[in-house]
Amino acid sequence: MMLLFDFLLAGALFLSSATALVAPSQDPFYTPPAGFASKAPGTVLRSRTVQTAFLGLVPNPVQGYQLLYRTTATNGSAIATVTTVFKPFGAALDKFVSFQTAYDSSDTVCDPSYNYQLGNNNTDLIVAFESLILESYILEGYIVSAPDYEGPDAAFSPGHLSGMGVLDSIRAVSSFASLGFTTSKPAVVAVGYSGGAIATGTASLQSTYAPELNIKGFASGGTPANLTGTLVFLDGELFSGFLPAALAGQLKPSAYQAELEPLYNKIITPFGRSKVEYADENCAQNDIFNFAEQSILSTKFQTLGEGLLYDPTISGIFEQNIMGIHTNQTPVAPVYLYHARNDEIIPYLNASTLYNNWCDQGATVHFTTFGNGGHLTTELLGVPSTLQFVNAAFAGTVAKGCSQQTVLNSTLNPLALAASLEPLAVSLIEGLNIAGLEDINIKNDLNLLKSGL
Ligand SMILES: *[C@@H]1O[C@H](CO)[C@@H](O)[C@H](O)[C@H]1NC(C)=O
Ligand SMILES: *[C@@H]1O[C@H](CO)[C@@H](O)[C@H](O)[C@H]1NC(C)=O
Ligand SMILES: *[C@@H]1O[C@H](CO)[C@@H](O)[C@H](O)[C@H]1NC(C)=O
Ligand SMILES: *[C@@H]1O[C@H](CO)[C@@H](O)[C@H](O)[C@H]1NC(C)=O
Ligand SMILES: *[C@@H]1O[C@H](CO)[C@@H](O)[C@H](O)[C@H]1NC(C)=O
Repeated sequence: MMLLFDFLLAGALFLSSATALVAPSQDPFYTPPAGFASKAPGTVLRSRTVQTAFLGLVPNPVQGYQLLYRTTATNGSAIATVTTVFKPFGAALDKFVSFQTAYDSSDTVCDPSYNYQLGNNNTDLIVAFESLILESYILEGYIVSAPDYEGPDAAFSPGHLSGMGVLDSIRAVSSFASLGFTTSKPAVVAVGYSGGAIATGTASLQSTYAPELNIKGFASGGTPANLTGTLVFLDGELFSGFLPAALAGQLKPSAYQAELEPLYNKIITPFGRSKVEYADENCAQNDIFNFAEQSILSTKFQTLGEGLLYDPTISGIFEQNIMGIHTNQTPVAPVYLYHARNDEIIPYLNASTLYNNWCDQGATVHFTTFGNGGHLTTELLGVPSTLQFVNAAFAGTVAKGCSQQTVLNSTLNPLALAASLEPLAVSLIEGLNIAGLEDINIKNDLNLLKSGL
């Protein structure tokens, strides 16, 4: 009891002494200066040093920077977003890793650039969790850039918007003098899992949008190659809460607001609207619980029911963003794809279709199927092979052509056994609901203490 009190008191003192970190919507750093639209995509508009921290609490011993840079909305107009750069001491100065974290949310308070800073309150738990994976690249001696690739209005799920956001962050970081790169074209490998496998969207757009970049490889796990496939797969299941958030994302001005809003206003029910509005103001962990095991293809949500997918506006937008079917969007650098055969969040079949399509188009793709485990365990079990790929891609030693292999197919393999613990991990996620409430209780206690000090 005493210990808990000490902890709360220390926390309260910490909170009251730290200068309060403000949300991106309140932080003038995020607003681009007048005239920015005439700058080239990838231009650094503003920069600052930041103290990055794990879970908002434990300072990270790196030099931290944030860059506001110019990028492009889906309709081609200029927008600006932020990337956070982690520079470890003694880092290699001719290369960096672009780490796309899966923030999976449509509110700017979930932005990675907010969640990486000392004093943040962990609004997005996925960013907090994945910062431990980001750390493995820092420990390997790489400078790491982690962009807010969903853009200024946090548009979760439109792939092309995110792809341009990543490519322009690479331009911005490459030109940022304070990092001390020894070359004007540092080598880059882009990595991401699940929502962060937007790295693959980046791969799709590089040859047309940013052919000058020195990108050496793309590593992409749990890849949502096909939004329609993902929607059908998730609808009505445990993780259906990602769907209203994805819809909120598609409806943002920088995504497809102009095309989608008239249809949306015509078909959405008051119930559906309340769910989308909730997702507009919350991060992934709340969104999941606010719409678990519910359907956006039901007439309770929108009046077209299952017909939603056949509406030409919707199917047109989704089709534009399917990876692997547009032959001018074939990756030019080697790709590492990996996916759990029993992935319960992002359909395996669509990722294996992507592998086949890209190989038919002449790309270099190495595809690893994790025979055991699901979406969450594969993110962790995929870390060593992703790191291996990143090192090989920088060294230029990735074999040309395509190959596929299955790992952890036997339950006798101890790692495979660990992966079969996925159901446990899923119930942990379910338990986060309660943890979230606990968390709020602790925060309330802290606030009570603070006001009493
Ligand atoms: C976390 O901080 C942000 C930014 O200051 C604020 O908008 C949000 O309400 C806070 N959330 C909680 C649960 O304290
Ligand atoms: C995308 O998913 C839809 C719905 O499941 C499916 O009909 C279509 O064939 C898929 N296309 C690709 C390329 O995966
Ligand atoms: C184009 O994108 C910009 C930037 O997000 C947005 O403000 C504007 O409303 C969009 N215009 C149309 C016609 O879509
Ligand atoms: C894409 O995934 C969906 C959902 O699992 C599945 O119904 C569809 O057949 C898949 N299509 C292709 C071409 O991969
Ligand atoms: C892995 O196991 C699955 C299901 O038991 C089986 O269909 C598949 O052929 C196996 N693959 C390999 C490469 O052993």
